[in-house]
Amino acid sequence: MDHFARKLLAWYDRHHRDLPWRVGPADKAEGTLPDPYHVWLSEIMLQQTTVQAVKPYFDKFLARWPRVDDLAAADTDAVMAAWAGLGYYARARNLKKCAEVLARDHGGRFPDTFDDLKALPGIGDYTAAAIAAIAFDRPEAVVDGNVERVVTRLFAIETPLPSAKPEIRARTKEMTPQERPGDFAQAMMDLGATLCTPKRPACVLCPLREECTALAGDDPQRFPLKMPKAARPVRRGAAFVAETADRKILLRTRTEKGLLGGMAEVPTTGWTARTDGETGTDAAPFAADWRSKGEVVHVFTHFELRLAVFHAERAEGPVSGGRWTKIAALGEEALPSVMKKAITQAIPDAFKASRERP
Ligand code: ADE
Repeated sequence: MDHFARKLLAWYDRHHRDLPWRVGPADKAEGTLPDPYHVWLSEIMLQQTTVQAVKPYFDKFLARWPRVDDLAAADTDAVMAAWAGLGYYARARNLKKCAEVLARDHGGRFPDTFDDLKALPGIGDYTAAAIAAIAFDRPEAVVDGNVERVVTRLFAIETPLPSAKPEIRARTKEMTPQERPGDFAQAMMDLGATLCTPKRPACVLCPLREECTALAGDDPQRFPLKMPKAARPVRRGAAFVAETADRKILLRTRTEKGLLGGMAEVPTTGWTARTDGETGTDAAPFAADWRSKGEVVHVFTHFELRLAVFHAERAEGPVSGGRWTKIAALGEEALPSVMKKAITQAIPDAFKASRERP
Protein backbone atom coordinates (compact mmCIF):
# COMPACT_ATOMS: atom_id res chain seq x y z
CA MET A 1 0.00 0.00 0.00
CA ASP A 2 1.49 3.37 -0.88
CA HIS A 3 1.97 6.06 1.71
CA PHE A 4 -1.01 8.15 0.51
CA ALA A 5 -3.39 5.29 1.23
CA ARG A 6 -1.70 4.34 4.49
CA LYS A 7 -1.85 7.88 5.85
CA LEU A 8 -5.38 8.45 4.65
CA LEU A 9 -6.69 5.20 6.18
CA ALA A 10 -5.02 5.96 9.52
CA TRP A 11 -6.77 9.33 9.48
CA TYR A 12 -10.10 7.70 8.52
CA ASP A 13 -9.81 5.24 11.42
CA ARG A 14 -9.80 8.17 13.86
CA HIS A 15 -11.83 10.85 12.10
CA HIS A 16 -14.38 9.15 9.82
CA ARG A 17 -17.91 10.51 9.89
CA ASP A 18 -20.64 8.38 11.43
CA LEU A 19 -23.27 8.09 8.74
CA PRO A 20 -26.45 6.01 8.98
CA TRP A 21 -25.56 3.91 5.92
CA ARG A 22 -21.92 3.41 6.84
CA VAL A 23 -20.19 0.54 8.66
CA GLY A 24 -17.25 2.20 10.43
CA PRO A 25 -13.76 0.70 10.45
CA ALA A 26 -14.02 -0.75 14.00
CA ASP A 27 -17.30 -2.58 13.27
CA LYS A 28 -15.92 -3.81 9.97
CA ALA A 29 -12.84 -5.17 11.72
CA GLU A 30 -15.21 -7.14 13.96
CA GLY A 31 -16.91 -8.67 10.96
CA THR A 32 -19.94 -6.43 10.24
CA LEU A 33 -20.34 -6.19 6.48
CA PRO A 34 -21.89 -3.18 4.79
CA ASP A 35 -25.37 -3.94 3.43
CA PRO A 36 -25.28 -3.38 -0.36
CA TYR A 37 -28.90 -2.21 -0.26
CA HIS A 38 -27.99 0.54 2.20
CA VAL A 39 -24.91 1.50 0.19
CA TRP A 40 -26.87 1.67 -3.05
CA LEU A 41 -29.80 3.61 -1.59
CA SER A 42 -27.49 6.17 0.04
CA GLU A 43 -25.35 6.62 -3.07
CA ILE A 44 -28.38 7.24 -5.28
CA MET A 45 -29.80 9.71 -2.75
CA LEU A 46 -26.45 11.48 -2.31
CA GLN A 47 -26.10 12.29 -6.02
CA GLN A 48 -26.61 16.06 -6.21
CA THR A 49 -27.85 16.16 -2.60
CA THR A 50 -26.11 16.82 0.70
CA VAL A 51 -25.54 14.32 3.51
CA GLN A 52 -27.69 16.39 5.87
CA ALA A 53 -30.62 16.48 3.42
CA VAL A 54 -30.36 12.76 2.71
CA LYS A 55 -30.33 11.43 6.29
CA PRO A 56 -34.08 11.70 7.07
CA TYR A 57 -35.01 10.29 3.65
CA PHE A 58 -32.63 7.37 4.06
CA ASP A 59 -34.14 6.53 7.47
CA LYS A 60 -37.68 6.87 6.12
CA PHE A 61 -37.01 4.58 3.14
CA LEU A 62 -35.41 1.89 5.30
CA ALA A 63 -38.22 2.03 7.85
CA ARG A 64 -40.81 1.58 5.11
CA TRP A 65 -38.90 -0.74 2.81
CA PRO A 66 -36.30 -2.59 4.89
CA ARG A 67 -35.08 -4.81 2.05
CA VAL A 68 -34.69 -4.35 -1.68
CA ASP A 69 -37.54 -6.85 -2.26
CA ASP A 70 -39.86 -4.60 -0.24
CA LEU A 71 -38.95 -1.65 -2.44
CA ALA A 72 -39.47 -3.78 -5.56
CA ALA A 73 -42.98 -4.67 -4.36
CA ALA A 74 -43.85 -1.11 -3.31
CA ASP A 75 -46.34 1.07 -5.11
CA THR A 76 -44.44 3.43 -7.47
CA ASP A 77 -46.58 6.40 -6.39
CA ALA A 78 -45.69 5.75 -2.75
CA VAL A 79 -41.99 5.69 -3.64
CA MET A 80 -42.29 8.92 -5.62
CA ALA A 81 -44.18 10.55 -2.73
CA ALA A 82 -41.52 9.42 -0.25
CA TRP A 83 -38.83 10.85 -2.56
CA ALA A 84 -40.59 14.21 -3.01
CA GLY A 85 -38.29 17.06 -1.98
CA LEU A 86 -35.02 15.27 -2.84
CA GLY A 87 -35.16 16.47 -6.47
CA TYR A 88 -33.93 14.87 -9.71
CA TYR A 89 -36.93 12.56 -9.79
CA ALA A 90 -35.61 10.29 -12.53
CA ARG A 91 -33.41 8.90 -9.76
CA ALA A 92 -36.48 7.70 -7.85
CA ARG A 93 -38.05 6.13 -10.91
CA ASN A 94 -34.80 4.31 -11.69
CA LEU A 95 -34.43 3.30 -8.05
CA LYS A 96 -37.75 1.52 -8.24
CA LYS A 97 -36.88 -0.08 -11.60
CA CYS A 98 -33.53 -1.24 -10.28
CA ALA A 99 -35.16 -2.82 -7.22
CA GLU A 100 -37.59 -4.65 -9.52
CA VAL A 101 -34.76 -6.00 -11.70
CA LEU A 102 -32.83 -7.13 -8.60
CA ALA A 103 -35.91 -8.89 -7.19
CA ARG A 104 -36.84 -10.50 -10.51
CA ASP A 105 -33.45 -11.43 -11.99
CA HIS A 106 -31.02 -11.54 -9.08
CA GLY A 107 -32.99 -13.10 -6.21
CA GLY A 108 -33.02 -9.74 -4.40
CA ARG A 109 -29.22 -9.68 -4.14
CA PHE A 110 -26.83 -7.13 -5.55
CA PRO A 111 -24.18 -8.30 -8.02
CA ASP A 112 -20.68 -7.66 -6.67
CA THR A 113 -18.69 -6.43 -9.68
CA PHE A 114 -18.48 -3.05 -11.38
CA ASP A 115 -19.70 -4.39 -14.75
CA ASP A 116 -22.71 -6.25 -13.38
CA LEU A 117 -23.69 -3.31 -11.19
CA LYS A 118 -23.38 -0.91 -14.09
CA ALA A 119 -25.82 -2.98 -16.13
CA LEU A 120 -28.62 -2.11 -13.65
CA PRO A 121 -31.06 0.80 -14.18
CA GLY A 122 -29.87 4.12 -12.75
CA ILE A 123 -26.36 2.88 -11.96
CA GLY A 124 -23.63 4.72 -13.84
CA ASP A 125 -19.84 4.68 -13.55
CA TYR A 126 -19.70 6.51 -10.25
CA THR A 127 -22.39 4.49 -8.48
CA ALA A 128 -21.15 1.13 -9.80
CA ALA A 129 -17.64 1.94 -8.56
CA ALA A 130 -18.92 3.20 -5.20
CA ILE A 131 -21.05 0.10 -4.53
CA ALA A 132 -18.34 -2.30 -5.73
CA ALA A 133 -15.77 -0.60 -3.48
CA ILE A 134 -17.84 0.19 -0.37
CA ALA A 135 -20.09 -2.88 -0.25
CA PHE A 136 -17.74 -5.48 -1.76
CA ASP A 137 -14.22 -4.10 -1.21
CA ARG A 138 -13.33 -4.10 -4.90
CA PRO A 139 -10.43 -1.75 -5.72
CA GLU A 140 -12.41 0.58 -7.99
CA ALA A 141 -11.60 4.26 -8.45
CA VAL A 142 -14.51 6.14 -6.87
CA VAL A 143 -14.54 9.76 -8.04
CA ASP A 144 -17.17 12.26 -6.95
CA GLY A 145 -16.91 16.03 -6.63
CA ASN A 146 -15.12 15.78 -3.28
CA VAL A 147 -12.55 13.39 -4.67
CA GLU A 148 -12.00 15.61 -7.71
CA ARG A 149 -11.10 18.46 -5.40
CA VAL A 150 -8.75 16.36 -3.24
CA VAL A 151 -6.94 14.86 -6.23
CA THR A 152 -6.56 18.07 -8.27
CA ARG A 153 -5.01 19.67 -5.19
CA LEU A 154 -2.76 16.73 -4.30
CA PHE A 155 -1.26 16.75 -7.79
CA ALA A 156 -1.85 20.42 -8.65
CA ILE A 157 -3.68 19.45 -11.83
CA GLU A 158 -3.86 22.59 -13.99
CA THR A 159 -6.29 21.15 -16.56
CA PRO A 160 -9.78 22.57 -15.90
CA LEU A 161 -12.81 20.40 -15.23
CA PRO A 162 -14.42 18.61 -16.97
CA SER A 163 -11.38 17.95 -19.24
CA ALA A 164 -9.36 16.87 -16.19
CA LYS A 165 -11.68 13.94 -15.41
CA PRO A 166 -9.63 11.17 -17.11
CA GLU A 167 -6.45 12.31 -15.37
CA ILE A 168 -8.21 12.51 -11.98
CA ARG A 169 -9.58 9.03 -12.52
CA ALA A 170 -6.17 7.62 -13.41
CA ARG A 171 -4.57 9.22 -10.35
CA THR A 172 -7.33 7.91 -8.09
CA LYS A 173 -6.94 4.42 -9.52
CA GLU A 174 -3.20 4.51 -8.84
CA MET A 175 -3.77 5.57 -5.24
CA THR A 176 -6.54 3.04 -4.50
CA PRO A 177 -5.12 0.19 -2.40
CA GLN A 178 -5.92 -3.52 -2.81
CA GLU A 179 -6.56 -3.67 0.92
CA ARG A 180 -9.54 -1.71 2.30
CA PRO A 181 -10.49 -0.03 -1.00
CA GLY A 182 -13.99 0.64 0.38
CA ASP A 183 -12.67 2.53 3.39
CA PHE A 184 -10.20 4.32 1.13
CA ALA A 185 -13.02 5.56 -1.12
CA GLN A 186 -15.03 6.77 1.85
CA ALA A 187 -11.94 8.35 3.40
CA MET A 188 -11.31 10.39 0.24
CA MET A 189 -14.91 11.61 0.32
CA ASP A 190 -14.75 12.46 4.02
CA LEU A 191 -11.47 14.31 3.53
CA GLY A 192 -13.06 16.37 0.75
CA ALA A 193 -16.19 17.03 2.78
CA THR A 194 -14.55 17.92 6.10
CA LEU A 195 -11.00 19.27 5.56
CA CYS A 196 -10.25 19.68 1.85
CA THR A 197 -13.28 21.95 1.46
CA PRO A 198 -13.91 24.26 -1.52
CA LYS A 199 -13.21 27.39 0.55
CA ARG A 200 -10.65 27.77 3.32
CA PRO A 201 -9.43 24.15 3.44
CA ALA A 202 -8.08 23.08 6.83
CA CYS A 203 -4.66 22.09 5.50
CA VAL A 204 -2.97 22.10 8.92
CA LEU A 205 -5.16 19.15 9.93
CA CYS A 206 -4.79 17.24 6.65
CA PRO A 207 -3.15 13.81 6.78
CA LEU A 208 -1.78 14.41 3.26
CA ARG A 209 -0.38 17.91 3.81
CA GLU A 210 3.21 16.75 3.23
CA GLU A 211 2.23 15.15 -0.07
CA CYS A 212 0.04 17.97 -1.38
CA THR A 213 1.56 19.77 -4.38
CA ALA A 214 -1.04 22.56 -4.30
CA LEU A 215 -0.25 23.29 -0.64
CA ALA A 216 3.46 23.39 -1.41
CA GLY A 217 2.59 25.97 -4.06
CA ASP A 218 0.72 27.97 -1.43
CA ASP A 219 -2.77 28.18 -2.96
CA PRO A 220 -4.78 24.94 -2.70
CA GLN A 221 -8.05 26.83 -3.01
CA ARG A 222 -7.23 27.59 -6.66
CA PHE A 223 -8.01 23.91 -7.48
CA PRO A 224 -9.91 22.41 -9.19
CA LEU A 225 -9.81 24.76 -12.16
CA LYS A 226 -13.12 24.96 -13.98
CA MET A 227 -14.21 25.92 -17.47
CA PRO A 228 -16.37 29.04 -17.25
CA LYS A 229 -20.05 28.05 -16.99
CA ALA A 230 -22.67 29.37 -19.36
CA ALA A 231 -25.07 31.67 -17.50
CA ARG A 232 -28.26 29.95 -16.38
CA PRO A 233 -31.18 31.10 -18.55
CA VAL A 234 -34.41 32.35 -16.94
CA ARG A 235 -37.71 30.65 -17.87
CA ARG A 236 -41.15 31.94 -16.98
CA GLY A 237 -44.60 30.51 -16.43
CA ALA A 238 -47.65 30.68 -14.19
CA ALA A 239 -49.07 28.38 -11.51
CA PHE A 240 -52.75 28.28 -10.54
CA VAL A 241 -53.77 27.32 -7.04
CA ALA A 242 -57.53 26.70 -6.90
CA GLU A 243 -58.96 26.20 -3.41
CA THR A 244 -62.41 25.15 -2.16
CA ALA A 245 -64.16 26.43 0.96
CA ASP A 246 -63.48 23.08 2.70
CA ARG A 247 -59.73 23.37 2.03
CA LYS A 248 -59.04 21.23 -0.98
CA ILE A 249 -56.80 22.25 -3.88
CA LEU A 250 -56.67 21.12 -7.46
CA LEU A 251 -53.70 18.94 -8.42
CA ARG A 252 -52.65 17.18 -11.60
CA THR A 253 -50.01 14.59 -12.39
CA ARG A 254 -47.28 15.56 -14.83
CA THR A 255 -46.62 13.28 -17.78
CA GLU A 256 -44.05 10.55 -17.18
CA LYS A 257 -41.51 11.97 -19.58
CA GLY A 258 -39.35 14.98 -18.99
CA LEU A 259 -38.64 17.29 -16.11
CA LEU A 260 -40.41 16.29 -12.86
CA GLY A 261 -42.01 13.45 -14.82
CA GLY A 262 -44.85 11.72 -12.99
CA MET A 263 -44.79 14.19 -10.09
CA ALA A 264 -47.80 16.10 -8.75
CA GLU A 265 -48.36 19.76 -9.59
CA VAL A 266 -50.92 22.50 -9.42
CA PRO A 267 -52.04 23.46 -12.94
CA THR A 268 -49.32 25.49 -14.64
CA THR A 269 -48.58 26.88 -18.03
CA GLY A 270 -45.87 25.07 -19.94
CA TRP A 271 -42.24 25.69 -19.01
CA THR A 272 -39.31 23.55 -19.85
CA ALA A 273 -35.58 23.98 -20.28
CA ARG A 274 -36.34 25.26 -23.77
CA THR A 275 -39.52 27.33 -23.70
CA ASP A 276 -41.24 29.91 -21.58
CA GLY A 277 -44.92 29.52 -20.70
CA GLU A 278 -47.58 32.18 -20.48
CA THR A 279 -47.52 34.22 -17.30
CA GLY A 280 -51.06 35.62 -17.20
CA THR A 281 -54.48 34.34 -16.19
CA ASP A 282 -55.41 33.68 -19.85
CA ALA A 283 -53.67 30.36 -19.44
CA ALA A 284 -55.65 29.32 -16.33
CA PRO A 285 -57.31 25.87 -16.42
CA PHE A 286 -60.74 27.53 -16.01
CA ALA A 287 -62.13 31.01 -15.62
CA ALA A 288 -62.27 32.20 -12.02
CA ASP A 289 -61.50 35.24 -9.95
CA TRP A 290 -57.76 34.63 -10.13
CA ARG A 291 -55.77 36.86 -7.81
CA SER A 292 -52.07 37.45 -8.15
CA LYS A 293 -50.00 36.18 -5.22
CA GLY A 294 -46.61 37.26 -6.53
CA GLU A 295 -43.83 35.10 -7.88
CA VAL A 296 -41.73 32.13 -6.82
CA VAL A 297 -38.25 31.40 -8.12
CA HIS A 298 -36.76 27.94 -8.33
CA VAL A 299 -33.30 27.05 -9.61
CA PHE A 300 -32.99 23.91 -11.71
CA THR A 301 -29.65 22.70 -13.06
CA HIS A 302 -30.11 24.15 -16.53
CA PHE A 303 -32.39 27.10 -15.94
CA GLU A 304 -34.01 29.30 -13.36
CA LEU A 305 -37.81 29.18 -13.28
CA ARG A 306 -39.94 32.17 -12.29
CA LEU A 307 -43.56 31.24 -11.76
CA ALA A 308 -46.29 33.86 -11.36
CA VAL A 309 -48.65 32.42 -8.76
CA PHE A 310 -52.42 32.92 -8.85
CA HIS A 311 -55.05 31.86 -6.34
CA ALA A 312 -58.82 31.51 -6.69
CA GLU A 313 -61.63 30.10 -4.62
CA ARG A 314 -64.20 27.95 -6.34
CA ALA A 315 -66.60 25.11 -5.73
CA GLU A 316 -65.35 21.57 -6.11
CA GLY A 317 -66.36 20.04 -9.42
CA PRO A 318 -64.85 18.00 -12.20
CA VAL A 319 -61.85 19.50 -13.98
CA SER A 320 -60.36 17.47 -16.80
CA GLY A 321 -57.10 15.84 -15.70
CA GLY A 322 -57.37 17.33 -12.22
CA ARG A 323 -58.12 15.95 -8.76
CA TRP A 324 -59.23 17.79 -5.65
CA THR A 325 -56.89 16.99 -2.80
CA LYS A 326 -57.27 17.91 0.87
CA ILE A 327 -54.64 20.42 1.95
CA ALA A 328 -54.24 18.34 5.12
CA ALA A 329 -53.17 15.38 2.93
CA LEU A 330 -50.61 17.19 0.76
CA GLY A 331 -47.83 15.39 2.66
CA GLU A 332 -48.81 12.18 0.89
CA GLU A 333 -48.47 13.69 -2.58
CA ALA A 334 -45.31 13.52 -4.71
CA LEU A 335 -44.96 17.29 -4.76
CA PRO A 336 -41.58 18.63 -5.91
CA SER A 337 -40.10 21.59 -4.03
CA VAL A 338 -41.04 24.10 -6.72
CA MET A 339 -44.71 23.12 -6.34
CA LYS A 340 -44.56 23.32 -2.56
CA LYS A 341 -43.18 26.83 -2.98
CA ALA A 342 -45.97 27.83 -5.35
CA ILE A 343 -48.68 26.40 -3.08
CA THR A 344 -47.15 28.07 -0.02
CA GLN A 345 -47.02 31.37 -1.89
CA ALA A 346 -50.79 31.16 -2.44
CA ILE A 347 -51.71 29.48 0.88
CA PRO A 348 -49.01 30.28 3.45
CA ASP A 349 -50.09 27.66 5.98
CA ALA A 350 -50.67 24.82 3.46
CA PHE A 351 -47.81 22.65 4.67
CA LYS A 352 -48.29 23.51 8.29
CA ALA A 353 -51.83 22.23 7.93
CA SER A 354 -50.74 18.99 6.29
CA ARG A 355 -49.06 16.30 8.33
CA GLU A 356 -46.11 16.00 6.08
CA ARG A 357 -43.73 13.12 6.24
CA PRO A 358 -40.40 14.98 5.93
N1 ADE B 1 -20.96 11.20 -0.56
C1 ADE B 1 -21.45 10.32 -1.47
N2 ADE B 1 -21.25 9.06 -1.06
C2 ADE B 1 -20.60 9.14 0.13
C3 ADE B 1 -20.10 8.19 1.03
N3 ADE B 1 -20.25 6.90 0.78
N4 ADE B 1 -19.46 8.64 2.13
C4 ADE B 1 -19.34 9.95 2.33
N5 ADE B 1 -19.78 10.90 1.55
C5 ADE B 1 -20.42 10.50 0.43
